[in-house]
Amino acid sequence: MPNQQELAIEARGLVKHFKETRAVDGVDIEVPEGTVYGLLGPNGAGKTTAVRMLATLLRPDAGSARVLGHDVIREADTVRGLVGLTGQYASVDEDLTGTENLVMLARLYGFSRAASYARARSLLEAFDLGDAGGRQVKTYSGGMRRRIDLAASIVISPRVLFLDEPTTGLDPRSRNQVWDIVRVLVDDGATVLLTTQYLEEADQLADRMSVIDHGKVIAEGTSVELKASVGSGAVHVRLADSTDRPAAERIIAQTLDAPVTLASDPYALSARVADDGTERASRLLPALHEARIMVAEFSLGQPSLDEVFLALTGRPTEPETSDDVETETNEAVA
Ligand SMILES: Nc1ncnc2c1ncn2[C@@H]1O[C@H](COP(=O)(O)OP(=O)(O)O)[C@@H](O)[C@H]1O
Ligand SMILES: [Mg+2]
Repeated sequence: MPNQQELAIEARGLVKHFKETRAVDGVDIEVPEGTVYGLLGPNGAGKTTAVRMLATLLRPDAGSARVLGHDVIREADTVRGLVGLTGQYASVDEDLTGTENLVMLARLYGFSRAASYARARSLLEAFDLGDAGGRQVKTYSGGMRRRIDLAASIVISPRVLFLDEPTTGLDPRSRNQVWDIVRVLVDDGATVLLTTQYLEEADQLADRMSVIDHGKVIAEGTSVELKASVGSGAVHVRLADSTDRPAAERIIAQTLDAPVTLASDPYALSARVADDGTERASRLLPALHEARIMVAEFSLGQPSLDEVFLALTGRPTEPETSDDVETETNEAVA
């Protein structure tokens, strides 16, 4: 890289406490312009708090941050004019229709009436909501709701967009639609800071990422770098019958001479493969076959980001199911 890229987001030693909770505990972030940066971590890791400070919604207790060169405290108004934000506290009004929401926002940004309607129409089309513009947002499905949230955050094209868990709780198809939208925004030159609990999401979208846990960055890099720091390979096995799992666990542990990870999916097992372990790994399928264990899927490859998290923290990422409840609690406290 010949030129040092301009930084769209630069945070140094950000800290935020809520009473005794150190929600964000000294976070540094550097995001070059035009890239996607992932903040990856389980529920309660401090992702939303970090984003709220960067988006000027919350004042840091310590540290500093700049967005496009502007200080988030001293130049908060300037920063607000440059960023878009969507996520756990989206601004759309459920009682209004999709069109009404977008028109209202465009009017707030100073568009003329005609220009506001034109902007709303083109956003609704772009986000596959063309037919739903006349319906109240409260009648939308989860995927539609997330897309209108995204549309609302880019009524004026922000140069920096904060997406706080944009796909949590969405089905795979809706998730893919949101990912496609994010890719289009980045192709248009936006910088995106994305928080996610989905390791696959950071892997898909982010150029670089930080893994955060209890308010601290515990790892930083590209997904390839993160995976490399944890080990060169892993086997992933999915069984046809979940009752075979204890037997499969024994065989895998023996064959690879490595501890086996049991995923929350009762059919799945995985294990790290040492650098010189591919020969052992190749003996695994015959060994399972010998024991009459039916294997539905078998792969030998890089460790998943889930396994990266496990290796970094010594525990798996928490289940995603309780997320909405947790979120509401946070907002109520705020
Ligand atoms: N307004 C608040 N008041 C008190 N505690 C809060 C508030 N917001 C967040 N927290 C706490 O700070 C920690 C980090 O929360 P949060 O930033 O929402 O994490 P994440 O977005 O990664 O799930 C959690 O322990 C949470 O309960
Ligand atoms: Mg959050």
